[in-house]
Amino acid sequence: MPKVIINDEEFEAQEGEHLLDVARKNGAHIGFICNGNGLCASCECKILEGADQLTPPNEIEKQWLSPARIEQGNRLGCQATIQSAGKNTPIKTLTRVEALKRQFTGFFIGEARFKSLIGFFSNLAKGASDQLSMTPTGLPASVSRLGLLKVLFPWSSGLGGWFKDTGAVISRQVKNGKSGGLSRRGSGGARPPFQKPPYERPSSPMSQKQGATNAKSGGSGRPANKASTKAYGQPPSKLSNLDFEDISIPKSERM
Ligand code: FES
Repeated sequence: MPKVIINDEEFEAQEGEHLLDVARKNGAHIGFICNGNGLCASCECKILEGADQLTPPNEIEKQWLSPARIEQGNRLGCQATIQSAGKNTPIKTLTRVEALKRQFTGFFIGEARFKSLIGFFSNLAKGASDQLSMTPTGLPASVSRLGLLKVLFPWSSGLGGWFKDTGAVISRQVKNGKSGGLSRRGSGGARPPFQKPPYERPSSPMSQKQGATNAKSGGSGRPANKASTKAYGQPPSKLSNLDFEDISIPKSERM
């Protein structure tokens, strides 16, 4: 059975399925604004391995993806069809929406914070400008292929499925976020459980002052702040010291 690794998670697939079908079935992070009608390009993904196990780019992909993007191995997930022909190696892909998310979140939690943010905006701008440059040919071709009504309302059939699959993507994202999905990227292993080192919170200047007052008054003053002796988990530390991997996108994986 063909295997597809989407954004570092492996899924089983069937011959003849589109990459988008596999992603939607499993709630993987991929865009499908037009419900797989080949109109929005939000399902764009970069094929990192196993491109030979997919059908070659079709006319719809050539209408919406610039020749340079196709050359770089980018495909529309709703058009690229699995034809593994018995090969055992998985098809590995990174979706555009996931790449953007990783770059954006890299600003908050990675080491290369500004590099991530610059990469995010540059990817966003490049994608938008490529898309705009393809619209004059892609849009008329889509209208003649699907009809104006379908272009305007691509979810006219299957709106329920669209909502259901969108919900599955969101809930998987939340689940992955809770289980430390970001830190697993590339390592394939789970983040070690958080250890609570015994840690005495230092007393605040206010409680020190209070303690001094109590000492002076022979203990007749108000009791010292109890919180000053409470055991806390991790001492405050800078974000850059936390146990997150640098999630800036390697050059080879950029869109
Ligand atoms: S889902 Fe819109 S182009 Fe593929």
